[in-house]
Amino acid sequence: MTKTVHVDGRPVWAEISLEAILHNLDVVCKQVGADRRILAVVKSNAYGLGAVPIAKTLERAGVHWFGVTCSNEGVELRHAGIRGRILVLTGFWPGEEKRLIEHALTPTVSRLGDVAHLERAAEALQKRPAKRGIGKRSSRPQRLPFHLKINTGMNRLGIAPPEIERFATELAACKHLKLEGTFTHLASSEDFESAQSEEQERVFRECLDRLSALGVAPGIVHMANSGAICGRPSTWFDMVRPGAILYGYYQSFTPSAMQNEVRQRLPLEPCLSMRARIIALRQLSAGEAVGYGARFVTQGPSRIAVINAGYADGIVRQRTNHGCAIVRAKRIPLVGTISMDLTMLDVTSVPDVAVGDVVTIYGQDGNAQIVVSDVAREINTVTAELLCAVGRRVPRYYL
Ligand SMILES: Cc1ncc(COP(=O)(O)O)c(C=O)c1O
Repeated sequence: MTKTVHVDGRPVWAEISLEAILHNLDVVCKQVGADRRILAVVKSNAYGLGAVPIAKTLERAGVHWFGVTCSNEGVELRHAGIRGRILVLTGFWPGEEKRLIEHALTPTVSRLGDVAHLERAAEALQKRPAKRGIGKRSSRPQRLPFHLKINTGMNRLGIAPPEIERFATELAACKHLKLEGTFTHLASSEDFESAQSEEQERVFRECLDRLSALGVAPGIVHMANSGAICGRPSTWFDMVRPGAILYGYYQSFTPSAMQNEVRQRLPLEPCLSMRARIIALRQLSAGEAVGYGARFVTQGPSRIAVINAGYADGIVRQRTNHGCAIVRAKRIPLVGTISMDLTMLDVTSVPDVAVGDVVTIYGQDGNAQIVVSDVAREINTVTAELLCAVGRRVPRYYL
């Protein structure tokens, strides 16, 4: 634990190290080269860590592009004073265009029909006098910039490669739009045993060539997420889109030997610590059950600690009888069913343990450390899911 946090009320909190995020940004910039643009993926409240303070810090450090998932997320950043470019990665729902344009959010076209919707909205808004205010441009550009998303094999969002010709025809009819960027998304960038990423890259390059042959400049080309930034230089193009690595977390690479190699090359610092305090301690005899469903039964005389954090705070229920937290610099097992608000630990082995002791759920205490990405691997999920699970009622402190 580096700095002390003073928490009012319920003792569970998250510490987010902005210094670590800036360090990780530096690592990413060195990896991809200083000339390449960085689009910081701050969607879903920056993976639950806090989009506003993180985007502000990154913008001050020179990041000019931010990626969100919908207009609400973009508007939140505009209201907080973010002036950089904000790309709405997941496209837009018909009706959302006006809001995107009014707040200078850059839309993504991921279906053919989107082009006509955007054109109509851009035309209508250009005829109106511009509003002034945060995020609102006093003089609108002649053409509304948008990015095109192409489905190269993930089969989730994006226009299909055979639709490129129709897209080009539709775009040619639009007087108020400008294709500013073209991108795709990798499905298995961290899997270096599968050929899927190479195939997606091949399809993407073909699409870029087709666009160019049709007289459409693809603009800023981008493809790489964290896994690809770590190990697929040919996918870096003009801009990269880091999410997890910006927050200090490695993907689970295949083959697993790559894990160490990437760690050495890209020394990331995890940004999240999550802590709580012991609020109750009880001594149990052998054979006593702990928690809902009696899923833990003591094997001998045991000291059980209760902390004020449960699955509503981010200790996911899959960790029932699984994994550890840190008490007095020692890894201690979680026991019994994780409940909504409370979790129990078997602290029998901790001398002098006391009510009020800090328990580190994620982060470092002495030489012991629990990293979110390691927990994710243990319970067969991804780091982003665990970060997003940190509950709204957990106060975040930015250090
Ligand atoms: C389109 C897009 N680009 C980039 C990212 C960032 O991914 P990662 O966190 O793996 O870097 C995401 C996240 O899901 C995404 O949806």
